[in-house]
Amino acid sequence: ATNRTFTMIKPDAVENGHIGAILEKITAAGFKIVAMKFTQLSTRDAEEFYAIHKERPFFGELVEFMTRGPIVAAILEKENAVEDFRTLIGATNPAEAAEGTIRKLYATSIGENAVHGSDSDENAAIEGAFHFSGREIF
Ligand code: CMP
Repeated sequence: ATNRTFTMIKPDAVENGHIGAILEKITAAGFKIVAMKFTQLSTRDAEEFYAIHKERPFFGELVEFMTRGPIVAAILEKENAVEDFRTLIGATNPAEAAEGTIRKLYATSIGENAVHGSDSDENAAIEGAFHFSGREIF
């Protein structure tokens, strides 16, 4: 069925000038952008968004990284969106990501890995609602 996923182009990829290339890969793969903004997360935003990782040793580093510069947040629509988007971005660690995936092409490290992709339909809805009001979704 057609459904939605949520993505962020993370600060590393923005800093490295990859916004255009990444959006091109996303739309070329058949995803329709239904919401999008250029924004920066506050420390509180990042702590809330990544609350599930609060006990992980890398949590502080993750919040520091995600707040250090602007990001692109977007909601994407496609048949089988969550799973197909995770295939398009590749493994969390770019060293393990398949050839041609967004992380293989544009990520720096396991922490600075260029893009986010929701891991379930439920989280896609929660994460999308975190960043967008109903009037911002088309
Ligand atoms: P993502 O899967 O989008 O969301 C959780 C993030 O935590 C992940 O991307 C990485 O950016 C980060 N992360 C996961 N594992 C590590 C790690 N071992 N060291 C640093 N950051 C990590």
